Amino acid sequence: MSASAFKQSNGVTETDSLRMRLRTATQTDHDRLEKLMESLDFAVTLESYTSLLLLLLGFHRPLEARLLELDWSETGLDLKERCKSHLLIADLTHLGLDSDSIARVRNCPHLPCASTIPEAVGVLYVLEGSTLGGQLISRRIKSELGVSEVSGGSFFLAYGGKTGEMWRGFIEVLERHGRDAATAHLVEAAALQTFQRLSAWIGDSDARKQC
Ligand code: HEM
Repeated sequence: MSASAFKQSNGVTETDSLRMRLRTATQTDHDRLEKLMESLDFAVTLESYTSLLLLLLGFHRPLEARLLELDWSETGLDLKERCKSHLLIADLTHLGLDSDSIARVRNCPHLPCASTIPEAVGVLYVLEGSTLGGQLISRRIKSELGVSEVSGGSFFLAYGGKTGEMWRGFIEVLERHGRDAATAHLVEAAALQTFQRLSAWIGDSDARKQC
């Protein structure tokens, strides 16, 4: 059997999967975002690491609030379980920020559109996917900054040992949205927009001034 005919346990052919389509479509944007994060020297000093967490909070907190307004019941996903802004808040608190400063963190004014479940699934592809690279970042901030899960590094560790399981659970839902071409298109457009808006926000020097 050729690799292209290989079927995953959920019956989706690997090469036809919406996940692979999104991975390819967003590769350039992922690489750009990775470089942008490096350019902030986030793993060099605690100050720059804290600045990155503030930027991520300004994106995740309002975006999660928007996603939580939707009815996820048809997807079978427990969105609350996948929200991570409380981890950013816990990390920032650990790093010395008080609750007033955290409440005042500026929200990204140009969030990705997520008014339908297919769009929200595209947004979630990016947010959930970041937990994969997050495992590498988690190890790096531990070795370079001495920051662990209990000392300001809970966001990047996120699901920790359950990362693979959580990702597979999400991919099952994603693949269901790949059966219909128009729906798949909405998911892909939202994933691309999410990468682009997150990069624009992280690269925005005005947003960084608050940090
Ligand atoms: C907030 C920033 C980031 C976002 C939104 C993000 C998003 C994503 C997404 C959506 C995927 C899944 C791709 C797929 O379908 O397989 C992914 C995977 C991955 N990311 Fe990132 N990423 C971010 C930062 C980083 C950084 C800084 C690194 C480098 C340390 C990184 C390394 C990786 C790696 C190695 C994978 C593949 C993991 C695997 O297949 O097991 N990411 N990321």
